[in-house]
Amino acid sequence: MTDASQQVISGLEGVLAFESSIAFIDGAIPELSFRGYDIQDIAQNLTFEQAAYLLWNDRLPSDDELAAFSADLAGQRAIPEALIGILRGLPASAHPMAALRTVVSWLGAMDAQADDNSAADNQRKAMALTAQMPTIVAAQARLQQGQEPLAPRADLSHAANYCYMLTGETPDDTTTRTFDTMLILYAEHETNASTFACRVVVGTEADLYSAVVAGLGAIKGPLHGGAIDDVMRMLIDIGSADRAAAFVDEALAARRKLPGFGHRVYRAGDPRAAQLRGMAEKLGQASGDDKWFAIATGAEQRMRDTKGIIANVDYFAAPVLYHLGFPLSIFTNVIASTRIVGWSAHILEQYANNRLIRPRALYAGHRNRKVGA
Ligand SMILES: CC(C)(COP(=O)(O)OP(=O)(O)OC[C@H]1O[C@@H](n2cnc3c(N)ncnc32)[C@H](O)[C@@H]1OP(=O)(O)O)[C@@H](O)C(=O)NCCC(=O)NCCS
Repeated sequence: MTDASQQVISGLEGVLAFESSIAFIDGAIPELSFRGYDIQDIAQNLTFEQAAYLLWNDRLPSDDELAAFSADLAGQRAIPEALIGILRGLPASAHPMAALRTVVSWLGAMDAQADDNSAADNQRKAMALTAQMPTIVAAQARLQQGQEPLAPRADLSHAANYCYMLTGETPDDTTTRTFDTMLILYAEHETNASTFACRVVVGTEADLYSAVVAGLGAIKGPLHGGAIDDVMRMLIDIGSADRAAAFVDEALAARRKLPGFGHRVYRAGDPRAAQLRGMAEKLGQASGDDKWFAIATGAEQRMRDTKGIIANVDYFAAPVLYHLGFPLSIFTNVIASTRIVGWSAHILEQYANNRLIRPRALYAGHRNRKVGA
């Protein structure tokens, strides 16, 4: 029963939907940790493979465990030729996230064990999707640019191989480390909209692929992962640092939201943005072109001064990916291809202690109408 005295929690803000032991956020400090380790510690001292192992197993791997885990991941990177055929058959107008969502759904349809919801089989699926999603994203990006997809290389780390498949060049250590850190920063983020979507699907005891497809649908939106593409388009639109303040003023006067600013949980600062800010600055200096960093910091300053609104994770991640030479159209896909780690950790956690997620609505429509009256 709902009654009119009950209050709707708009956007479910602050609602605790379930217990979780994966990520902790204190938006006021601000603090973010994965499995009890601070995100700065993880980003500075772990690789993507170590962070993924941590998120899935609740502890860091030994050297032997890490070697086996990395080899397993590297060995599963190849994608079926038929999947590349599906990508080739999509119209050029297809959104890259729609393409990714379509082929992940296809992988689910092709998996004879798709409906085996045991932890062991879901761990297998999580590993396979984490290995394959970068190959899909890179293949898609290359096809879009009229290039042939590159086969993954098992001799490279997850991050280095991802760069290689996108650019065709073996990345140097700095590039690899930068991208690796970015993949870690985006790998997990508590009960964000896409993770919640995954858990809602698991709540019905549907399969992992269905949950991931729901996550992909949610993360595509411009208020969530889709914001990263919009940030880069905005920086390009602003064009030069001296136009940044006026651009912000005009947008705010028109009551337009600026992509890359604001956050539901972090009001005082996004701990991931601090890391990415430094990375964007370094990449600008190293390339001899600090234009994007200068525009970004100009607009950031104006937002802080006029509205007190913080830059979120996507704000400096956009120029980081741009400097790495990745096509702007697939920025959201890159984020989704690392968030699969967090999604699958939550999916496993939800299956292990599941209850159907089914909130109520406060009814605000007509009542007691009669057809023909
Ligand atoms: C992230 C986001 C969806 C959070 O939404 P939310 O928690 O519902 O926050 P609200 O929309 O209630 O914002 C609170 C206030 O800040 C303003 N605000 C929030 N984000 C803003 C932005 N990006 N640009 C301008 N104003 C913004 C809102 O207009 C609102 O102002 P008001 O009280 O005067 O109406 C929102 O900040 C946003 O749309 N950001 C841009 C998209 C983005 O970068 N998403 C990636 C998030 S990691």
